[in-house]
Amino acid sequence: METIIYKICGGERDREMLELSGKILRDGGLVAIPTETVYGLGASALSVSAAEKIYAAKGRPSDNPLIVHVAEPCDAELFAYTTPLYYRLAERFMPGPLTVIMPKRDVIPEAVTGGLDTVAIRCPFHSVARDIIRCAGVPVAAPSANRSGSPSPTSAAHVIADMLGRIDMIVDGGDSEIGVESTVISIADGIITILRPGAVTEEMLSEVCDRVVIDKAVTDPESVGAKPASPGMKYKHYAPAAEVILVEADSVDDFVRYVNSNASDGDGVFASMAEMNDFNVRVLITGEVGSAAELNHSLFSLLREADDLKLRRVYIRKPPAWGEHLALFNRLIRAAAGKIEKA
Ligand code: TXA
Ligand code: MG
Repeated sequence: METIIYKICGGERDREMLELSGKILRDGGLVAIPTETVYGLGASALSVSAAEKIYAAKGRPSDNPLIVHVAEPCDAELFAYTTPLYYRLAERFMPGPLTVIMPKRDVIPEAVTGGLDTVAIRCPFHSVARDIIRCAGVPVAAPSANRSGSPSPTSAAHVIADMLGRIDMIVDGGDSEIGVESTVISIADGIITILRPGAVTEEMLSEVCDRVVIDKAVTDPESVGAKPASPGMKYKHYAPAAEVILVEADSVDDFVRYVNSNASDGDGVFASMAEMNDFNVRVLITGEVGSAAELNHSLFSLLREADDLKLRRVYIRKPPAWGEHLALFNRLIRAAAGKIEKA
């Protein structure tokens, strides 16, 4: 299949190409769309055959439910049985990197929800994503636009590497600003349960609801591979070909010592610009000072870079398992297949 690639340029042509992407979606085709978290692989959420095309293009098991993307938070009403708590969350965090699981209405086929009677709804912040959904005139089911098992794509180049020739169109809207996927929550019984951590943190959700819990699978390295509430969490995920070694260290000095005495030729380390000269192996730079936001933004692209460089192992310092670091910790224990080394 020939894949149309279009880069948003702010010019006249954008409108015409966004209309085209909408038509492809409406007609049951596949379009990769930019969002603020990661690129999504979009298809009509009303069509069984379109959902099947997503699973085929990704090489993903079809029991893994898809997120349904809408252009306006209130459109959730058409596809899910909402509650007042949903609207409180929508007012505070939508459009944005939050996905809410609710009982589904019949219009959404079970092929989209992996056979579940619930549906995950998200209204992305990215204006191009919302324009494409509006042009499509249908809700858009979209998992991350990577081949199953490889790191999520945060640029059009990543999508091209994984999906060229497998889908109808790729819309290039620049690099994803956040870089890790949305926070996924369920809101059953008025309790917010975080199933996948993201940029909307436990602390932020607590401002809207005083009962917020984190599903055990989010932080527990033992759970990697087990059956969690969010089916997507059971697969070894976000993994590059290089072996990821997650190192728990009390200080930067301990981490540097551990890496320098254990790593060998062909290995690499993730470090900030400020630390780059301390290591005697190849350094992949995570940002100027190595803040959580910087590392979130660059994580998936650095994991891909590690593979482009054919690194055998990459050493990464374990982030704390709370607050703004939790999303990163959750992705890293999966990339490291649940193993943590102590420095
Ligand atoms: O930021 C994001 O959420 C991106 C962009 C494209 O929007 N999408 C994304 O989709 O990460 P995906 O398919 O890679 O991850 C969806 C996650 C999976 O862990 C899946 O199991 C969970 O959401 N999920 C979806 N529907 C669910 C449901 N009804 N019940 C429980 N978990 C669900
Ligand atoms: Mg994914």
